[in-house]
Amino acid sequence: MKLLEVEKLRVRFETADGPVHAVNGLSFSLEKGETLGIVGESGSGKSQTALAIMGLLADNARLRGSIRFRGQELTRLKRNAMNRIRGDRIAMIFQDPQSSLNAHLTIERQMTEVLEHHRGMPRRAARKRAVEMLEAVQIPDAARRIRRYPHEFSGGMRQRVMIAMALLCRPDLLIADEPTTALDVTVQAQILRLLRDLQREFGMAILLITHDLGVVAALSDRVQVMYAGRLCESAPADVLFQRPLHPYSRGLLASMPRLDGPPGEPLRTIPGTPPTLFGQPSGCPFAPRCPERLPRCEETPPAPLEKDEGHRVACHLLEEEQ
Ligand SMILES: Nc1ncnc2c1ncn2[C@@H]1O[C@H](COP(=O)(O)OP(=O)(O)O)[C@@H](O)[C@H]1O
Ligand SMILES: [Mg+2]
Repeated sequence: MKLLEVEKLRVRFETADGPVHAVNGLSFSLEKGETLGIVGESGSGKSQTALAIMGLLADNARLRGSIRFRGQELTRLKRNAMNRIRGDRIAMIFQDPQSSLNAHLTIERQMTEVLEHHRGMPRRAARKRAVEMLEAVQIPDAARRIRRYPHEFSGGMRQRVMIAMALLCRPDLLIADEPTTALDVTVQAQILRLLRDLQREFGMAILLITHDLGVVAALSDRVQVMYAGRLCESAPADVLFQRPLHPYSRGLLASMPRLDGPPGEPLRTIPGTPPTLFGQPSGCPFAPRCPERLPRCEETPPAPLEKDEGHRVACHLLEEEQ
């Protein structure tokens, strides 16, 4: 059994200006202990996919499709059943630190509360476990610093605290939404290394969400490229980096700053503007920006095709070759 199976997921928001189609029939799965990187430009539906799994979509959202976690359908769970899973079997590091940490409570209070809620641990035992977890994420002097408030930590240290908090109950699945976006490059590398080491230690699966292919390359076993709430391409990480097939994936890779390139080289971007999510395009959502589009691309949306084992691509160009 897969750890996570998402099938034909749709997330639509009702707004005063009409419906916003944030996620449009997305299917993917995750094995136990595996790291799947989800990449795509801002607005491609990455965070809403994560929030759908967590059962934390906004009130104006409508969800369709299926999300199975260890065989259990999450979309039909009652609120308190989901509360039991969330923070325990599935934990998330949010893009926005304010969603993870309460500015008005000490780290100790926030961490022990998680263990009291999910494990019924008495305060002292919970405190001991919390300090151990802060040590595991390499926060110096953890026993003392646990009494501090979030604002008393630097950005990198605060990120470590969030990771410690997410891992308290040793989840099977950690969702990390842009876990290093706000950090400078050195701290970013430290946090990624830490995540990788913790994964080895705890054996959890990671859903790593980012707009940064460099971050994905550092950590992922498999990569899934999204555009306008749909799958463009998914493949083992080395395959995607060596032989991206979808024109959008190729564009993303070409815009990636080269590690061995001259410093200060300007970042290339993909020409054109991201799609509007009001209404559904009749064809491939990437067609207006695609340098290789065919007449058919503007008419019918391409369905994901398996090119090689584990390499799926949704592009009319590749149907042509078969
Ligand atoms: N509550 C909401 N109401 C309407 N639109 C929303 C809401 N939340 C998110 N969206 C829209 O959903 C789309 C996908 O967002 P998101 O998943 O956050 O993108 P990203 O890939 O950058 O994480 C965006 O266009 C965003 O504006
Ligand atoms: Mg996001």
